[in-house]
Amino acid sequence: KSIVLTGITTTGTPHLGNYAGAIRPAIAASKNDDVRPFYFLADYHALIKCNEPERVKQSSREIAATWLALGLDTSNAVFYRQSDVPEIMELTWMLTCVTAKGLMNRAHAYKAAVAENEEAGGNDPDKGINMGLFSYPILMAADILMFNADKVPVGKDQIQHIEMARDIASRFNHLYGEHFTLPEAVVDDNAATLLGLDGRKMSKSYNNTIPLFEKEKKFRKLINKIKTNSLEPGEPKDPEGCTLFGIYQAFATPAEVEAVRQQYAEGIAWGEMKKILFEKINDEITPARERYEALLEAPEHIEEQLQEGAKKAREISKPFIQELREAVGISKIS
Ligand code: TYM
Repeated sequence: KSIVLTGITTTGTPHLGNYAGAIRPAIAASKNDDVRPFYFLADYHALIKCNEPERVKQSSREIAATWLALGLDTSNAVFYRQSDVPEIMELTWMLTCVTAKGLMNRAHAYKAAVAENEEAGGNDPDKGINMGLFSYPILMAADILMFNADKVPVGKDQIQHIEMARDIASRFNHLYGEHFTLPEAVVDDNAATLLGLDGRKMSKSYNNTIPLFEKEKKFRKLINKIKTNSLEPGEPKDPEGCTLFGIYQAFATPAEVEAVRQQYAEGIAWGEMKKILFEKINDEITPARERYEALLEAPEHIEEQLQEGAKKAREISKPFIQELREAVGISKIS
C-alpha cells in the first residue's frame, strides 16, 4: 500500500488554504483502498511560534474536528497527535546529527525571518529566531520518515521542506543503510497557494485567513471583505492573480471556471463574483460545518479517536526506532 502522510500545525483555526491545499486531497486519497493514510496534528511544530498553551489546545481540537467532520475514515487512516508519538522526537535528534547546517540556512521560513530582521535595520539578523524555527524542517522530516511516507499532499509553501526530508533521508541511508523511503510532495495545481483577504498568501501568520467552518453569515461577510481592484462593473477584468478567481478555481469544476473566466472578460461586477464564490464554497462545506459544530461539543469523542490513532502509530514507531537505534550504534530500549 502507498503511504500518504500530512500534518497541520496547531496554531490556529483551519482555513480555506489548509483545506484546499492539504486536507481535501488527503481525505480523497484516504478513500482509495491502495492507500494507507497517516494524518496528524503537528503540535510540536506549534511550539515554535506559539507560547499560548490554550491556543495550542483549542487549535488541536478544531483541527481534529475538521478532519473528522470532513469524513476521515479512521478505521483505515492513522489519525494522531504528533506529541503522542515520542519516537518522532527521538528520530528528530538522529536526523539533526546527519543534517548539514548549511541546508537549514536555506530554509524559506528561516530566510524570511532573517530578511525581516534585516529590513527592520537591526544589527542582529537572527534576532527573535529560536532554534525550533531554524531546525523546523528536521522535525518535519522526522514526521515523514518515521512512517516511511511515499506521498505528502501539501500546499506549495511546503515543497521545499519535503525536498529537505528527501535530502536528509538520503544522507541517513548513505551512512547507515537503507532505512527510509524518499518521500514525494503532491501538490494540486488548482490549490497550490490560495490567497487571503489582503491578497497575500492565506496564512495564519498574516492574519488574513478565511476559516473553513466560519458560521454562514460571517463567512459571507469575510468573502465580501476580500480585496479587489477598483474596476467598475462592465469593465473587463483579469482573472490572473485575482484572489477571488484563484479561490474559485480551487472549488469549481473546469467548466465552471471557464464560464466565470468568460464573465470576467465581459466585466462581471465584483459583488456578483463574491456572491458566486460564496455560494460555491458554502454549498460544498455546509454539511461538514454542521458535523464540525457537533464534534466540538464532543471533545471526548475526538480524544478517543486520537488515542486510538496514537496506539496504531506507535505500533509502527516503536519497533522502527529500535531498528534505527541499532543502525546508529546506540542501545535498544529494553
Ligand atoms: P501549515 O499548518 O502551515 O499548513 C497546513 C497545510 O495547509 C497548506 N496551506 C496552504 N495551501 C494552499 N494555500 C494556502 N494559502 C495554504 N496555507 C497553508 C500547507 O501547505 C500545508 O500543507 N509544516 C507544516 C505542517 C507539517 C507537515 C509535516 C506537513 C508538519 N509536519 C509533515 C506535511 C508533512 C505546516 O506548518 O503546515
